[in-house]
Amino acid sequence: MNTYLLFKSIHLIAVISWMAGLLYLPRIFVYHSEAVQNNKSKDLMETFKVMERRLFIYIMNPAMIISWIFGVLLIHTIGMDNFGFLWLQLKLFFVLILTIYHFFLFQCLRKFEENNNSFSPKFYKIINEIPTIVLIIIVFIVIYKPL
Ligand code: HEM
Repeated sequence: MNTYLLFKSIHLIAVISWMAGLLYLPRIFVYHSEAVQNNKSKDLMETFKVMERRLFIYIMNPAMIISWIFGVLLIHTIGMDNFGFLWLQLKLFFVLILTIYHFFLFQCLRKFEENNNSFSPKFYKIINEIPTIVLIIIVFIVIYKPL
């Protein structure tokens, strides 16, 4: 039984699910904040709140936790001495940015729940680029391991 390949497969499945949420949740925030600006119906707002909450609780949180658990198990499998290589340090730095972004989105979600969102649709469109850029950087770092 090759535990390294098993851990890596589970890691990648979790990372893909986590990224899907990190990319999609701000998109829902764009539509939600536009609906608030345009005084759309209360029913529509409630639908957005349910979509946001379910995506965060049932997909993003478990996916982030599993990504971390299996990422750490992978570090253990390939050897702790890899902490000495810049590729792993850089990767962990960018993963930390994604994790902070994850919790920032949770703060936004709570503001929407309280009908107290303070950001514009344009703001959510712009921050939606963050996970895309970080994803591209991480994939090149872990595949090429240049340093
Ligand atoms: C959550 C914390 C994370 C930790 C601790 C972590 C750690 C690791 C480790 C140690 C490996 C094995 C590298 C090797 O076999 O040489 C790995 C593989 C990989 N990780 Fe992560 N990772 C994390 C999150 C992420 C994220 C967020 C992404 C993408 C956005 C990602 C993408 C990948 C990919 C594509 C591989 C496969 C690389 C290969 O086969 O060479 N990881 N990860």
